[in-house]
Amino acid sequence: MNDMTKAAAAPRASMRDRMAMYNENTLKIGLFGANCSSGRAVTLVPERWTGSWEDNLALAKMSDAAGIEFMLPVGRWKGYGGDTDYMGTSLETITWATGLLAHTKRLIVFGTVHAPLFHPLIAAKQFVTADHVGQGRFGLNIVVGWNEDEFQMFGVSQRDHDSRYDYAQEWIDAVKLAWGPQDDFEYNGQFIKLKNVRSKPKPYGGSRPLIMNAGASATGRGFAIRNCDAFFTQADRTSMDKTRTLVQAAKDEAAAQNKELDVYAVGVVTCRPTQKEAEEYYHYATIENGDWSAVDGILGKKNISPATVGEEEFQKQRHHYAHGMGGLLMVGDPDRIANTLADLSRAGLRGIGFSFVNYLKELPYFCDEVLPRLERMGIRTKRKG
Ligand SMILES: Cc1cc2nc3c(=O)[nH]c(=O)nc-3n(C[C@H](O)[C@H](O)[C@H](O)COP(=O)(O)O)c2cc1C
Repeated sequence: MNDMTKAAAAPRASMRDRMAMYNENTLKIGLFGANCSSGRAVTLVPERWTGSWEDNLALAKMSDAAGIEFMLPVGRWKGYGGDTDYMGTSLETITWATGLLAHTKRLIVFGTVHAPLFHPLIAAKQFVTADHVGQGRFGLNIVVGWNEDEFQMFGVSQRDHDSRYDYAQEWIDAVKLAWGPQDDFEYNGQFIKLKNVRSKPKPYGGSRPLIMNAGASATGRGFAIRNCDAFFTQADRTSMDKTRTLVQAAKDEAAAQNKELDVYAVGVVTCRPTQKEAEEYYHYATIENGDWSAVDGILGKKNISPATVGEEEFQKQRHHYAHGMGGLLMVGDPDRIANTLADLSRAGLRGIGFSFVNYLKELPYFCDEVLPRLERMGIRTKRKG
């Protein structure tokens, strides 16, 4: 039996089976942004993340062995400049995911894909290929575009905000048709027109890849609810109650449309044996050695300046981006980090994707100290085998 026939004969999996790949763990844990240089830490420190293939591969193997559930890349085409050219080196995410899936057994690896830059039929086949390599572990993060200069690089103009999601709707409809059971189809949308389409093989095991989106606007959230299994949002930085309300609101909106949505957040972790050590390292890496010129470049692209938002808001945003690109900050000893993660789980989050300054150096301590605490709290179970 060749591999393709074997895949066709693989047991039919439901979406639930895929999503429950680690269903004993109430809170799923993932790593976010490792495909880019510096990851999500806008810092000058020499130990900042290289983003090299070798380091990514070692990280994926380490994560797989430790029972980490997913790796989520950032779809970036151009760095943000500054002294480090923050995120200036980035591995393309579908090929990155495919390579990592070939070397791992349990980990879900996402591709983060700009719908307007990839033809949907080429993209659908790339996803299926990655999904076969990973035997059902590929996930898709659909993004519609953020930074104008990245699009200019391709000679593609960004549509106005809501039209980006109209386009993405047709794009994901076309991708799902290509994944679907029918052999031939036509698609005649406003933006996308496809004729006599044939797309084989289908995703692994009779299911389809997990789909996520992180739209922050009402339009983006609506898109996620209509089309996705998982919705990534920003947890509130000051209050767990506000996070709980936010998560519940997204779930309620989905429930009103008879949909079920898992809500995830993103964050940044600095975990050290004592609270003092964690705070000192955090201060050293993100304040004393922040790549502030890169931070200003990021804000410039978002048109955030004292002139547009006022001095006070500008300073707030400057710190917000320097300290983890907007994700939830978790700085502390293992007890503090474990308690925060447990609170996020109680607030209704299905999982969190976070970053470290140096993922490879910091993940082992997190796995040795924080994961067992979460197991004792009943939020995760010890990985078997
Ligand atoms: C966890 C997370 C990951 C994201 N990844 C990317 C990315 O890699 N590339 C990108 O262009 N946009 C990315 N975004 C941006 C979102 O897809 C979305 O465009 C943004 O949150 C603004 O929301 P809106 O499109 O509804 O206005 C990400 C956002 C979040 C919160």
